[in-house]
Amino acid sequence: MGEVISIINQKGGCGKTTTAVNLSTALALMDKKVLVIDLDPQGNATTGFGVQKGELENTIYTVLSRQNNMEEVMIPTILDDLYIVPSNISLSGAEVELSREIGYHSILQDAIKSVKGMFDYILIDVPPSLGILTLNALVASDSVIIPIQAEYYALEGMADLLKTINLVEERLKTSANIKGILITLYDSRTRLARDVHQEVKKYFGEEEYIFKTTIPRNVRLAEAPSYGKPCILYDQESAGTTAYLKLAQELISRDG
Ligand SMILES: Nc1ncnc2c1ncn2[C@@H]1O[C@H](COP(=O)(O)OP(=O)(O)OP(=O)(O)O)[C@@H](O)[C@H]1O
Ligand SMILES: [Mg+2]
Repeated sequence: MGEVISIINQKGGCGKTTTAVNLSTALALMDKKVLVIDLDPQGNATTGFGVQKGELENTIYTVLSRQNNMEEVMIPTILDDLYIVPSNISLSGAEVELSREIGYHSILQDAIKSVKGMFDYILIDVPPSLGILTLNALVASDSVIIPIQAEYYALEGMADLLKTINLVEERLKTSANIKGILITLYDSRTRLARDVHQEVKKYFGEEEYIFKTTIPRNVRLAEAPSYGKPCILYDQESAGTTAYLKLAQELISRDG
């Protein structure tokens, strides 16, 4: 059975989508079968794989509103073992619509069941909010990766996120473990970045929560989406590529 991992942090721009796109690609290059679910109305992960999001009829929205099943909306990518369930702006109305349904928090979990056996990993790119979509992601997930940008205020909102994760466990009796905290946009030359790294270590107490791999600030990671390619396939020599390959290895070794 595939492991479902949400890339989650309600703080905007901390590298969730970049991580979902490049970590999934790295895992697929390591012979894992991987599905990325774009759960963000911004559709950035969709674009990141070169899929024209505006033209899509079948998306994660049509899955959540029960017009399609997950398998019907999966799109193949350049890599054989990597598929994406796309998203676009149509998802933006979903929060209100879903909230009217009984058991609205487990709609994604139910929809994933039928494809769980087909993949080793299912990565969910979560939008920057703590709304109903994020709740669905948490309920559907076995674990979470929390990207934290190495900048001032990085830990702002972390207490709310951890509280939400705990509430889901208490009230809904499904629990998503913290797979790891991932330091992103890290610039080892700046004192601030190093300080934030220390702060994060202090905050989480146990070192094993934090991935040994950090993701450097790397312009290739930012450029790649405009070419419709994950950085890993766009510039194999870049520091961003090296970091995400290392992260994939670390993730696989954590899973034993
Ligand atoms: N390690 C990095 N080095 C350089 N640029 C990066 C890096 N990671 C992300 N970026 C850039 O920073 C911006 C935000 O990254 P990204 O979209 O991955 O964050 P996000 O958490 O998904 O944002 P949102 O909360 O809006 O969904 C993007 O322009 C992206 O290309
Ligand atoms: Mg994003």
